[in-house]
Amino acid sequence: MGEFRPLGREHRAQLEGFSCYRYRQPYTRPVEEIIRLYLPDALEQGSHEGIGFWEEEALLSVAAWREDPDTWHVACLAVADGNSRRGLGLRTKIEVLHRATEMGMRFVTSLVHYDNDGMIKINTRLGATMHPDAEREHLFCVIDLLNRYPTDPGGLAI
Ligand SMILES: CC(C)(COP(=O)(O)OP(=O)(O)OC[C@H]1O[C@@H](n2cnc3c(N)ncnc32)[C@H](O)[C@@H]1OP(=O)(O)O)[C@@H](O)C(=O)NCCC(=O)NCCS
Repeated sequence: MGEFRPLGREHRAQLEGFSCYRYRQPYTRPVEEIIRLYLPDALEQGSHEGIGFWEEEALLSVAAWREDPDTWHVACLAVADGNSRRGLGLRTKIEVLHRATEMGMRFVTSLVHYDNDGMIKINTRLGATMHPDAEREHLFCVIDLLNRYPTDPGGLAI
């Protein structure tokens, strides 16, 4: 089963121990570092908000964002070790889009490494437009919550 719940200061220990580094995927290291080293303070100071997906007491996915007037900038989204490829990454991103829509946001942005095929696939399915950065290392992904064109032929109930 499991459920999404907001992240807060009470989750510091779980975030500091969260593992999402993937062998031979070096671009996953900074994501883990953001979650372990920066997110607990960012949540406590209120610069970021986030959600986690829990099964019982196990934290299986994390997403956090910073809010601008009409935009949520996703700082990290990750699925815990041992839980990938079961749809949780996609589900977590969809949950962020739902909540952003409810809060009256227009855009959800994120920065995705060029080699991160899983995250690129998720953003593509959710109708993101992607712009390469100057170094061609990351893609700046923008999801327009009002004008999305999901490319999933089956359509997504979101
Ligand atoms: C990237 C990440 C969030 C994907 O989460 P996930 O739960 O494994 O992804 P899902 O199961 O929801 O898969 C969504 C789609 O991506 C595909 N996919 C997932 N990982 C993939 C990979 N490594 N290579 C290719 N495709 C991949 C899935 O097959 C699925 O496609 P399908 O619906 O056509 O079958 C997860 O691997 C992760 O946490 N990585 C480490 C942290 C990270 O890189 N976060 C992103 C920061 S921008």
